[in-house]
Amino acid sequence: MKTIYAINGSPRKKGNTAQLLDQALVGAKASFPEEEITAERIDLYDLHYTGCRSCFACKRKGGASYGKCAVRDDLHSLLERLLNSDGVIVGSPVYFQNITGQLHALYERLLFPYTVYSADRTGIPQKSIPFGFLYTMNVTEEWFKQSQCPAFLQLWESLIGRNFGYAGHCFAFNTYQFHDYGKYVSDLFSEMDKSSYRKAHWPQDCRAAYELGWKIAALACREEPVAPCGQS
Ligand SMILES: Cc1cc2nc3c(=O)[nH]c(=O)nc-3n(C[C@H](O)[C@H](O)[C@H](O)COP(=O)(O)O)c2cc1C
Repeated sequence: MKTIYAINGSPRKKGNTAQLLDQALVGAKASFPEEEITAERIDLYDLHYTGCRSCFACKRKGGASYGKCAVRDDLHSLLERLLNSDGVIVGSPVYFQNITGQLHALYERLLFPYTVYSADRTGIPQKSIPFGFLYTMNVTEEWFKQSQCPAFLQLWESLIGRNFGYAGHCFAFNTYQFHDYGKYVSDLFSEMDKSSYRKAHWPQDCRAAYELGWKIAALACREEPVAPCGQS
């Protein structure tokens, strides 16, 4: 039995990110029909937790929590589930050119216990878990490429990739943010352009998410470890 999780870093449960994550899970389930795969979406904004609290219990010499996060909140059991999983797809809307705050807090708690303050900078080796990343954002691909956003996202992907394994990423640009643009101050955008862009591109975005899920499940079913580092 293989377990794949899709982590929804958006507060919206039916938004762009959630819809693409669901496609990724469909892809994961389709990957190996003969394998038994559990595929579940977890909505981070349903959980109550903080980022790293800098308690250093994970670094205390001989401590019971050495190498593990000692904070007992809703993330405690989620971290355990992720670390015992066989593949993870993380989805985030872009907020101020980066991942959302909730996902940032999860990454701190996931990564800091394995970050060792040793001179040779070797961390604590983890089980190889393929991680895939998907992002949705308002801006067009051209804007995105000219911004600092690719570098911000790449940093997280390489930190996760180095500790666990990297399976790829996909992006949905120029997303539809509101159901009715007429109700909100948003004359920066043309609803007509957004609508025609979505018609043309959303099926491809869904396909890319499906394929990412498919790939993660395929990697999860192999015996070899996943390549460590994220490349943009
Ligand atoms: C607080 C906030 C900040 C945002 N910042 C950006 C941004 O910097 N760049 C961008 O392209 N979109 C930005 N957006 C738009 C969202 O990334 C975009 O609408 C996304 O597809 C929403 O995903 P969701 O439907 O899953 O919530 C922002 C939205 C919010 C609410």
